[in-house]
Amino acid sequence: MTEKNTLTVRDNRSGEEYEVEITDGTVRATDFGKIGKTDDSPGLAVYDPGFTNTASTRSAVTYIDGDKGILEYRGYPIEQLAENSTYLEVAYLLVNGELPNQKQHEQWVHDITFHTFVHENLKSSMQGFRYDAHPMGQLMSSVGALSTFYPEARNIKDPEVRMAQVVRLIAKMPTLGAWSFRHAQGKPYVYPDNDLSYTENFLSMLFKMSERKYDADPRLVKALEVLFILHADHEQNCSTNAVRSVGSSQVDPYSAVSAGIAALYGPLHGGANEAVLRMLKRIKTKDNVPAFIEGVKNGEEKLMGFGHRVYKNFDPRATIIKKAVDDVFEVTGVNPLLEVAQELEKIALNDEYFVKRKLYPNVDFYSGLIYEALQFPPEMFTVLFAIPRTSGWLAQWLELVDDPEQKIARPKQIYTGGRQLDFTPASQRWA
Ligand code: CMC
Repeated sequence: MTEKNTLTVRDNRSGEEYEVEITDGTVRATDFGKIGKTDDSPGLAVYDPGFTNTASTRSAVTYIDGDKGILEYRGYPIEQLAENSTYLEVAYLLVNGELPNQKQHEQWVHDITFHTFVHENLKSSMQGFRYDAHPMGQLMSSVGALSTFYPEARNIKDPEVRMAQVVRLIAKMPTLGAWSFRHAQGKPYVYPDNDLSYTENFLSMLFKMSERKYDADPRLVKALEVLFILHADHEQNCSTNAVRSVGSSQVDPYSAVSAGIAALYGPLHGGANEAVLRMLKRIKTKDNVPAFIEGVKNGEEKLMGFGHRVYKNFDPRATIIKKAVDDVFEVTGVNPLLEVAQELEKIALNDEYFVKRKLYPNVDFYSGLIYEALQFPPEMFTVLFAIPRTSGWLAQWLELVDDPEQKIARPKQIYTGGRQLDFTPASQRWA
């Protein structure tokens, strides 16, 4: 039998047969549009809410094999990057496609370091937020506002202009994230310290008070580097899809990334780590775990930090984070909620409900415990996700802008509403 990379589809409504090409394990949805197409009918469409089985792009940024628990950035396994690299080197890798040589690395670190300051007017605008404004809301709008400070960013066809915004965004995210945290605490904003590394500087802007120089514990700096590397990209997730979808309108990258931050804010995505910690606090003790699990199984609520659209055996990031938990607790002392988390994991991994549905701890299950040990309030957790994810969003955005196959995102719908209704004026309807 000769092997043919096609699919033969027989439309039983008409008896007609169509041959559809298979490329890279996919068929083109537009080829299905030819099936049953007449002057009066638009042809077959594909219905896939949530894009559960639809590839929206070709991408060379991140590879995931969910069944085998593999995650690679530009082909490099996440375990090796977390062990041996720094966040800024990984950001370079994601954005440029390959690891930097020494000169490129020095230039990159220099450029990022010297773009960490933000315009004073943006600082004033952040000061206008209510005292209790959620830091993610502050971050989302401040990143959107950056587009008004760099109007040239609209010129997305120019590679130099594009790269200048990429550097600015990666550089300024820790500043805006830290200021959103200081704002909620009523503390003065701390300016960047360009003598410090990316993560040290972030910690300094978060926690520095009257000391002349903030001196972070190197073990905590390392843990934050690892967490930043783990969160840097995750291929076509909800927020990346938002960045790509909004970016497909050819808007500037600040607006597109701001849409990504909005998507990440939600509890089913980046907001999950905040939800995990609130859940652990509510469960409170190990003894309450069985009753909580019963509630989850009865559909009363979800076990936050469990389950993943892609990973069906384990989330490789969760394995690395679990190790970082020990390193951080060595410095900060053990968080009593760790016991609750471990008991939840133990019971869930042996319970048929979770086993059958392939629900395992994801990246957010343990990250919240680390963040709390580092003295972050839960509202800050998603900000800690958004800062490193910015390099991934931008790598994906750069790819989108250069991809000749991409068009403005515009899905179809199956219309379910009324048709051709006669409008009755309000004066008659309300009479
Ligand atoms: N607790 C209890 N049941 C769950 C959970 C959970 N955390 N996750 C999924 N299920 C059940 C779900 O109810 C469904 O059961 P049934 O087949 O009986 O209807 C089944 O498992 C399949 O779930 P799904 O909702 O169809 O799966 P999905 O791929 O659409 O959702 C998910 C993936 C991550 C949104 C979901 O697992 C979830 O809501 N988890 C909790 C939130 C969370 O931890 N999110 C962080 C994800 S990792 C960070 C990131 O990359 O954003």
